[in-house]
Amino acid sequence: MSPVLSETGFVAVGAAADVPALEGRSVLVDGRRIAIFRLPDGWAATDAACPHRGGPLQDGIVADHCVTCPLHNRRFDLRTGRQDGGDDAVAVHEVFERDGMLWMRLA
Ligand code: FES
Repeated sequence: MSPVLSETGFVAVGAAADVPALEGRSVLVDGRRIAIFRLPDGWAATDAACPHRGGPLQDGIVADHCVTCPLHNRRFDLRTGRQDGGDDAVAVHEVFERDGMLWMRLA
């Protein structure tokens, strides 16, 4: 069981050092696969499964606060979850780093 930050609902999901710049990694939170991304100015977290056909968003290319799905190249804004130029959307979750640990809370 993951450590929980008292009464906030945030759970520890791993070490920040394990996520290189402009890359994503997947973690399991309450049985849900989540993609966490290191951005130039912070962190982002979304459901890991692309809403199109379940592609692994954590393996996508990250640029300009967006991730591009590696399967069919749909692009999602990591701040809003909205697809760039389309109607799909992926859930966005809260994530932050403290003392080298990543904490997140499901939306
Ligand atoms: S599965 Fe992501 S774009 Fe198709």
